[in-house]
Formats: sequence, C-alpha cells, structure tokens
Amino acid sequence: MSLLVRVTLGVFLGLCALSWVKPAVETDAPFSWMRPDRFDTINDMFSSVTGENCRSKPAEQLTLPKETIAQIPKYNNLLSTVIYSNRSAMLHMHNMALNRAYFYSFIYQKLNSTFDFHYQPGLMYYYMSAAADVSASPGFVNASSLYFDFNCSYPNWFSTLPFNTTIPFFGPRAWRADDYNEPTNFLREPTNNTIDIHDYGAGRDSNYTNSAYKTNSWYHLWMPDITGETDSLRKFTYSVGIKYSNTTGHFTKDEFEDTSFFGPPQPSQTDGDQSLPVLFTAPYFDCGRSNKWIVSATAPVVEYFPRYSIYIHLRRPRFVAVSTMDIEFERIDMNQCPLAEGNPSPNYFAGTARCKNTTMCEPISGYGFRRGGYQCVCQPGYYYPWYHDGPFLGWEIEEATREEYEVGFDCLAVEERQVIPNVMPEFVERKKRSVLSKKTEFLEMTLPKALSPRPSPRQKRHLVARLKDYKEKRLREKRRTLVARIKRDTSRKIHRNKRDAVDEVAVIRFDDILTRKYQTNAQNCKSKQAHELFLPGDAGHGVEKLFEAQGRTALRLAHFLSNFLQNVDEYEEFGNLRGDRRLNETQIFSEVLANVMGDFKIKASGVFFDRYKFRMSPPINNTDPRFVDGITREFFGPYAYRIETKDEGLDFFKAIDFAGFEDYYVDASWYRDMKARWATNQYGLKKFTAKPMIRSNPGGTSSIRFEYYPLTYRAPRYEDGEWLRPQFKCDDMVNDWVVTYVVPFFGKNSLKTKIEFKGVVTVDAKLDYLDINQCPSEFHSANSFKNTARCHFESQYCVPLEGKRFTRGGYKCECRQGYEYPFNDLAWFFDGQTMEEEWRKLTAGQPNRYATLKCRIAGASSVAASMLMVLVLSSLVTVWTRT
Ligand SMILES: *[C@@H]1O[C@H](CO)[C@@H](O)[C@H](O)[C@H]1NC(C)=O
Ligand SMILES: *[C@@H]1O[C@H](CO)[C@@H](O)[C@H](O)[C@H]1NC(C)=O
Ligand SMILES: *[C@@H]1O[C@H](CO)[C@@H](O)[C@H](O)[C@H]1NC(C)=O
Ligand SMILES: *[C@@H]1O[C@H](CO)[C@@H](O)[C@H](O)[C@H]1NC(C)=O
Ligand SMILES: *[C@@H]1O[C@H](CO)[C@@H](O)[C@H](O)[C@H]1NC(C)=O
Ligand SMILES: *[C@@H]1O[C@H](CO)[C@@H](O)[C@H](O)[C@H]1NC(C)=O
Ligand SMILES: *[C@@H]1O[C@H](CO)[C@@H](O)[C@H](O)[C@H]1NC(C)=O
Ligand SMILES: *[C@@H]1O[C@H](CO)[C@@H](O)[C@H](O)[C@H]1NC(C)=O
Ligand SMILES: *[C@@H]1O[C@H](CO)[C@@H](O)[C@H](O)[C@H]1NC(C)=O
Ligand SMILES: *[C@@H]1O[C@H](CO)[C@@H](O)[C@H](O)[C@H]1NC(C)=O
Repeated sequence: MSLLVRVTLGVFLGLCALSWVKPAVETDAPFSWMRPDRFDTINDMFSSVTGENCRSKPAEQLTLPKETIAQIPKYNNLLSTVIYSNRSAMLHMHNMALNRAYFYSFIYQKLNSTFDFHYQPGLMYYYMSAAADVSASPGFVNASSLYFDFNCSYPNWFSTLPFNTTIPFFGPRAWRADDYNEPTNFLREPTNNTIDIHDYGAGRDSNYTNSAYKTNSWYHLWMPDITGETDSLRKFTYSVGIKYSNTTGHFTKDEFEDTSFFGPPQPSQTDGDQSLPVLFTAPYFDCGRSNKWIVSATAPVVEYFPRYSIYIHLRRPRFVAVSTMDIEFERIDMNQCPLAEGNPSPNYFAGTARCKNTTMCEPISGYGFRRGGYQCVCQPGYYYPWYHDGPFLGWEIEEATREEYEVGFDCLAVEERQVIPNVMPEFVERKKRSVLSKKTEFLEMTLPKALSPRPSPRQKRHLVARLKDYKEKRLREKRRTLVARIKRDTSRKIHRNKRDAVDEVAVIRFDDILTRKYQTNAQNCKSKQAHELFLPGDAGHGVEKLFEAQGRTALRLAHFLSNFLQNVDEYEEFGNLRGDRRLNETQIFSEVLANVMGDFKIKASGVFFDRYKFRMSPPINNTDPRFVDGITREFFGPYAYRIETKDEGLDFFKAIDFAGFEDYYVDASWYRDMKARWATNQYGLKKFTAKPMIRSNPGGTSSIRFEYYPLTYRAPRYEDGEWLRPQFKCDDMVNDWVVTYVVPFFGKNSLKTKIEFKGVVTVDAKLDYLDINQCPSEFHSANSFKNTARCHFESQYCVPLEGKRFTRGGYKCECRQGYEYPFNDLAWFFDGQTMEEEWRKLTAGQPNRYATLKCRIAGASSVAASMLMVLVLSSLVTVWTRT
C-alpha cells in the first residue's frame, strides 16, 4: 500500500472510530455523569404540577422558592442601576402594575363626591383596561388583574345598589388564552389575540382573602390593611396639577388646578424593601386558569376609605386593592453563573454553570428557565484554542459527554504578558515611522522620550529582555504574513472591508449630532431655528427595540380606547346591570398621568382626539337642550408631563389639555401623517377577542357570560405606530430631548356601522436613556453612529454595551480569534471609552497610548491545545496497529 492510501484509510477509520466506537465504549452520556444540582430540584417541582393535578396539591407544592428569581427590579434603584435586556420584561411588568395603581388611586380620590359616582369607571372599564394590558404587550405581560379587598369596592354598575354600598369581593383578571383549539382557529396555532377575563370574586371559591386559598400570594403582600400603623411608611401623598380647557383655544383657568392624592409608597434610595411600591411574588402555579407557573408584580391601590361615609373620623388612606401583572416563570432568564458583582445574591441557580477554571461565565439573555443560558469566555490572560471559534457556549457544555468535558472547554494561557506603562510613549507620526529602522521603532514605542538618551543599567536589562520578546514577535508576524500571502486574495479582502475601518465622515457627523444635543437646553432653545431642534432620523437608531416597553405603554391606551369606543354603547341596560357611560375627561387625564408616573423613562404622554370625535355624557341633571345628547368637544388633547427635579427627589407631574392652545394639534405633522395613513383605510388592523365572564348578581354567587360574548375589537399592533426622530421639545413643558411614539386608535362611527379613526396616543421617551451603537454594521442599517468605534479592527471586533446611554464610547473591543489580550490588568477587552479618550489625545497631539491598545497574535500553542490532536493521533495509532 502506498503511504498516501494508508494515511487516507487511517484518517477515515480514525474518524469512524471517533464517531462510533468511542461513545459506546469509553464515554458517559451527559445524564450519567453530571450530578443533579439545584436546577434539577426546581425542574422536578416545576414539572410535577400540571393543570390536571394542581387542585389536589398542597399549597407548598404550588410555589417555588422566591430566590429562583434573581435581580428583581427595585423601584428606588431603577435610576442608579442599569436594567439589562434580560430584565426588561420584568421592568415593564413592574411599571405597568404601578401605572394601574396610580390610575385607580387617582380616579377614586379625584371623583370622590357622590355626584361623581357615575363618572367612576364602570364594569367594562375594568375589564377593557385589563384586556388592553394583555393585548398590547405580547412578550411582556401575560395577565393583568385588580383584586379588591373584602368590602372595598363601590360598583356603579348595579342599578339596585345604592352608591354607598360595597360588594364583598371583586377581582377582574384578564389573561392571554391558549386559543389553538378554537373552532375559528383553523391553523391550530395560538394567535396570542384571545383574552379571557374572569371575575375572581364570583362563583365558587371566591374568598381569595382566605389563607386556604392556595394561589393568592399577591394578597398578603399588601392586604388586609386594617390598622394604620404603617401608613406613614407605606403611603405617599402625590400632588398633580391639571389645566382644563372648556372651549377651543381657551383654558378654563390660567393656573393648574392642584389635586393631592394618596398613592403607593415612594421610598428613598436607602429605604429597605418594606416601602417599595412594587413587590414581586414568588413563582406560583396559576391553577385552573392559564395552568402555567407565573410570577406577579404587585402594586397597591390606595383610597381614602370609606369613600362615602357620614363618619368622617373613620376615614383614612387604605390599601383597597392590588394591581398585578403576571409573566410566565419559564420566560424569566436565570443566571447560572457564580455569584459576582454583576450577579448578586439571592440567586438560587448561582454556580450551576459548568465553566472550567480557565474561563469565566457570562449570562446570555433569552434562555429563560432552561439550562445553558451562559457562555464561558477566557479568563484574563487566556485565549481560545485554535480549534474553537469564540466563547464556549453553555448549552454545548451541558450536552457534552464526560470525556468531551474533561478534554475540551479550556482556554490556553497567554505567555509574556505586558504591564501597562505608566508613562505614555510619545505619539509617533506615521510618515516618520516608515523610514525608521525596526529597532528605533521599538525603542520609541517602549521608552519614554524623556528617558531615552541614557537608560540606566536596570532599564537596559529590561530593554534587552523586551527586545528579545520583540524579535520573537516580529518573527511570528513574519510567519503570519507569509501564510497570509499564500492565502487567496479573497480572504484578505475581508480585512480590508470598508465596514471594518472607522468611517471618518460618520465620525464628523457623530460629533455634530452630539454637539447639537449637548448645546441645546431649556435656556437657549427659544433662540434656535426650528431645524436645529431636531436630530437626524438615524440618530434614533434602535429606539423601537430599546423603548419598546414605552411604546407599548402608549399602545395599551390605544387598545383600551379602541375597545371602549367600539363596544360600549352608552346607556345600555341589561336588567340589573347598567352599561358603561361615555368616557369622562377626568378618566383620560388620569390615564395619561398614570403613563408618565409609572415609568421614569417616559417624559410625557398624551391622547389627541380627532376633531369632533370626543363625546361625553350630558352633565347630571342637565336642563340645557343643547346637551341632551351629550357634549361633543371640537378638540380634546390631555397631555401629561414630568418635571424632573435635579437633585434626588420626587418629580412633579402636570397635565394640560391641548385643546386650550391656539395652535391646533391636528395641524402638526405627526398628527396629520398618522391621520392620512389611517383615516380612510384601516387595512392591517388586528382583531382581538375578549371573553368576559361577569358576576351574576352583586353578591357574586355565580359567574356568567357577559351579554356580549365574545367582545371583539380592532386595534393597531406595535409596528403600526411610528417612532419620530429625536426632537428637543421647546414648549415650556417637556424642555428636553425626546423621541416620540405615535399610535392611532379607532372607534365606531356615529352610525355604528364601521370603524373610523378617532385620534392618536403618544409617548415621549427621554433620549438620554437611548444607547447608541458605534460598532460596524451593514450598509443598509439606518444608524448615524455605525462604523465610528475606535477599535483596531485588524485584531479586534466591536461589541456594543448596554446601559451606556446617549454617549460616546458605549462599546468594548474584544480580541479576534487568533489574537490575545496583551496586558496583565484583569481585563480581557479594551473599553470603548478608553479607546475614544486615547484617540482624542492622539489627535490633540498629547501623550497617549492609542498605538498600544491592540491585541497581539496569540502565542505558540501549549500542550493543552494539542489534546485534541493527541486524541485523533492515538485513535489513528490504534487503528493502524490493528490493520
Ligand atoms: C374629595 O377629595 C378632595 C381632595 O382629596 C377632598 O378635599 C375632599 O374633601 C373630598 N371630598 C369628599 C366628599 O370626601
Ligand atoms: C405568555 O407570554 C409569552 C411571551 O412572553 C408567550 O410566549 C406565551 O405563549 C404566553 N402564554 C400564554 C398562556 O399565552
Ligand atoms: C348610604 O347613604 C344613605 C343616605 O344617603 C344612608 O342612609 C345609609 O346609611 C348609607 N349606607 C351606608 C352603608 O353607609
Ligand atoms: C360588607 O358590606 C355589606 C354591604 O355594604 C354590609 O352589609 C356588611 O356588613 C359589610 N361587612 C363587613 C364585615 O363590613
Ligand atoms: C405569540 O407570541 C409569541 C411570543 O411573543 C410569539 O413567539 C409567537 O410567534 C406569537 N404567535 C403568533 C401567532 O403571532
Ligand atoms: C373569607 O376568608 C376569611 C379568612 O379565612 C374569613 O375571615 C372571612 O370571613 C371569609 N369571608 C367570607 C365572605 O366568607
Ligand atoms: C369656559 O370657562 C370659562 C371660565 O370658567 C367660562 O367663562 C366660559 O363660559 C366657559 N365656556 C363654556 C363654553 O362653557
Ligand atoms: C443580565 O445581563 C447582565 C449583563 O450581561 C448580567 O450582569 C446579569 O447578571 C444578567 N442577569 C441575569 C438574571 O441573567
Ligand atoms: C478550579 O478551581 C477550584 C476552586 O478555585 C479548585 O478547587 C479546583 O481544584 C480547580 N480545578 C483545577 C482543575 O484547577
Ligand atoms: C367628568 O367628570 C368630572 C369630574 O367629576 C365632572 O365634573 C364632569 O362634569 C364630567 N364630564 C362630563 C362631560 O360629564
């Protein structure tokens, strides 16, 4: 046999041996060698409960330990810590729970007199509000509810009940139903658009205040609130100002009308968990409803209770209800990495990752409750072996056999590491450098100018050693260029790619944008020209992803209004049940205020009704013949905004009716564009189905279907709304850079025959919270800041960082495959801010070390690198000897 044939045969047989013989004979499959850990404990509890057996299980088997949810967003830390994308759904739940708590607290206390009783939210208001929470936030919120304490709700929808009578329990809850099996759903795939709404206070098992009620962990966090002991700690008095308008172009009063109300607690930075306004429950099984493991964010609704009583001395602010938002436990990312600075305790799953000692664990988002949501990156001072491309992925490790695990997943040590010089080497100009000899180049680089004439003996020794290193490095480089020359041209093109170089034109534009942003402020904005108050549209790149939660807050209100305006037929009566009235202006003011108060990234929020589309009920005891059929306002544009206080303290909130301004909001371009798109053509609206089950009587003896069952409504999706370009709103209200999301809402026309455009909902999110991405990206990506990162792309690649806000340098430069991090400073990447700063010094002609911020070619492979080789060879030898 010729040698070639033998080798080929050997390799072939060797591969066969590797893939067939080895696993059967010598290795252990993952489940046989990995020891059970804390993940398995929870997974067993998780999978032992199902929709069929949950009723018979004791309460403790229906809850998981609280520590299984790590890094819960805390209200008083939201501003001072970065909330990463792996917690953005929880943050949105947190904010929505708070949003509903503010809304109901405000409306109960604002409309507190007896003649306002009928302007309070009616039954469908509660149902539709909860349905909108769910339908507008797929991927964020799976269920929304409001549970009242015993005898704490005053229903205005029973015509037989006097105004001052309460009903025992009332708990409307809406959740996304799995509708795959509906007769109308021929695809047999959940559509995400069907919502079940039940009243938990009706029917069998309605006493959810009872401790024997197994799945009510939300109740005991806030209620019963009988004694007033913790009132000072757990209730807070908010004050908001509202400026009403009664006719187009005029305000009713010139001043803002202040209203104070009691609301959820408002802790300071240092306060403990007791006074947080939003608390999360431990994961529990939603038995009999969605039959999933869920986690709830809960916030209390405060009312001055009893609302209607002749005994004034009995009244005090009291938690009357709890607003909750639920998410599936399975969708919440866990962090399997060991406890560290970015992974504080309590974290039940900490340390279940299987990274080896030469690597570090980094969580990956989007894995939820599943093993392997992490990657193992090389420790500082180590680099990836040549046969592995980038970090070792967690799920690869989790399915490794014992042998694979023991041999692989290790990084190799970097030898000859340098220390960052304290004195910066002088910046050497490129032109000069090309004529210098290699030796002087080296000396220039390592030796500070001031010292260069006469190095001390110690320095000399050091230099000689460095020179040796340097020679070796040159040798390696030479070898590399040789190899590169052999390679085809195409591979070199990749390195020369335009995308991989800093785009200096984009940098100049970037500077202009940042300058414009920083130089425009509330004091000088009036003197600027109109176009100077805008940034280019591509400066808001990524806003639809990063501010999705804020956009969906506006979408929620659009869904609610669409549902209400399409399904509530004012003055309907169903026996004892009284239908909802028309919307009242105070309700919409309250909605926009709640949007702003519930989310610190939202600077302002508004609802703008189209001309002659806002119809209100006639005033009570109306005698004016003009208003028999109710009042129709030409314009109605409630708009709430936040006034930030510079030092730590509570922001102020104000609301104003845009109808009072002399410029009509319907003439603004953002309004006209939306209207032009949707006024005549509603193609593309999604149909949502809500299935309301209501109580049969005030006592709630049983649960029956609502008269209209199911309710359907057409509403926009998140993609149907539009993010406008960044703008400085110079209007004495917002006075800040914001990006605005605009989304339309729809109602029945006056003949109730078809759907028509009724107006838009807007949210202004603060531009400062937008992260910018300077890394290279595709030519078609509409991002003004792309290709401006100062990485050394020959040896590094760029990774954008989260939470760095609208500033320069929000990225890191990591070493490419085949390169290693040269410094001995516990890092393994170069920070974008350092790169930018050193570049700035370089261009300013100051001493800098920009030239040293590069990765160097990885050193010779050590023994560990060739373990795989040894494996292959040994099997080859085995095969060889057998033949
Ligand atoms: C209603 O609330 C306002 C403001 O909180 C308060 O001044 C007023 O006394 C309340 N009215 C009644 C009837 O409780
Ligand atoms: C809950 O929300 C997730 C997205 O976060 C979705 O995938 C899942 O289907 C929802 N569950 C139900 C029961 O609708
Ligand atoms: C309700 O109000 C009526 C008078 O308006 C009063 O006679 C009655 O006692 C009140 N009931 C309660 C429960 O407060
Ligand atoms: C609850 O409210 C009902 C009706 O208002 C009343 O008859 C009953 O006494 C109240 N129960 C308690 C414990 O306050
Ligand atoms: C339902 O929602 C989930 C999660 O957001 C998504 O993955 C799925 O594609 C949605 N289903 C449909 C039919 O849109
Ligand atoms: C509900 O349960 C609580 C706690 O066990 C009990 O005190 C209360 O009387 C019950 N209420 C009703 C109306 O059954
Ligand atoms: C609006 O309010 C002002 C001030 O209270 C009043 O003078 C005016 O008559 C009101 N206009 C209408 C149409 O009610
Ligand atoms: C979320 O991501 C951040 C940044 O990568 C990390 O520090 C944090 O530990 C992660 N949290 C969880 C629960 O995975
Ligand atoms: C890895 O580190 C742990 C703790 O530092 C140590 O106990 C273990 O012996 C190390 N394993 C190896 C293979 O170095
Ligand atoms: C809306 O509610 C307010 C607050 O009580 C009331 O004064 C106003 O008359 C109501 N508006 C209409 C049109 O009914």
